[in-house]
Amino acid sequence: MPRIAYVNGRYVKHRDAAVHVEDRGYQFADGVYEVCEVARGFIVDMTRHLDRLDRSLRELRIGWPMSRAALQIAMTEVIRRNLVRDGLVYLQVTRGVAPRDHVFPAAHVKPSIVITAKRADPRALAAKAEKGISIITVRENRWERVDIKTVGLLPNVLARQQAKEAGAHDAWFIDADGSVKEGAASNVWIVTKDNVLVTRQADTGILRGITRTTVIDVARKLGLSVEERDFSLAEAKDAKEVFMTSATTIAMPVVSIDGHSVANGHPGATTDAIRAVFFDVAEKTRTH
Ligand code: PDD
Repeated sequence: MPRIAYVNGRYVKHRDAAVHVEDRGYQFADGVYEVCEVARGFIVDMTRHLDRLDRSLRELRIGWPMSRAALQIAMTEVIRRNLVRDGLVYLQVTRGVAPRDHVFPAAHVKPSIVITAKRADPRALAAKAEKGISIITVRENRWERVDIKTVGLLPNVLARQQAKEAGAHDAWFIDADGSVKEGAASNVWIVTKDNVLVTRQADTGILRGITRTTVIDVARKLGLSVEERDFSLAEAKDAKEVFMTSATTIAMPVVSIDGHSVANGHPGATTDAIRAVFFDVAEKTRTH
């Protein structure tokens, strides 16, 4: 069965799915995106993802390409047509196709929308989480509006590549003052020796991750305290547990930072507990 993508109102074979060469996403990274987890046949936290999409679009003054209700149907349909039970759904909206010019195109130019879905093996993810991952740190070099989920991800791409070449799984952006911003595609958390969960406040310095928000709900349910504040790399290296959150990994334990073992070199009980109840706490939208 061929993979199917949704492109500007049509379901097309994935291998033929394309946008025009003068799409502003292609030429200027003038667009935004969302990635939602699909688990056990449900879209996880769709309302929060679409609320964040709405915010990203407003911040950049890009219109909705279609109604929210129609977008939800298209997302579900792409998941369904690709027989995805566990995996992710990706959607991208750009300012549309117009002759190359930095200023916004005429008002009649319609935003472009692309939706794809792909399977992932939950067992492979669980196996990774059982071991934990290693990360390297890189100096923050992104623009100030990383709270907007734009497709302009070149620093993130370079950071991830640097991690790979260093034999690590991921990279964290560190501010000039030594505080931890976030991962190349995730938010960062520590568990202090007093069992307090700490993650950076969601100001304009990080993306307000949907998984991050739901993990705050999970912590409440588990009776854990959460502090949203700056923390330094030194504090992370000394923490009881370290983990990262994103729609593609949920809570992923970190056991090594810049080649030094952290958190005893093993995933911790709090991270495990969060992983175990996350799906129950999250919003679930049926796809089949
Ligand atoms: N990335 N910070 C950054 C820079 C991200 O790119 C992401 C997500 C997150 C976590 O957000 P959420 O919990 O909503 O997934 C934080 C997605 C998964 C990606 O680019 O593939």
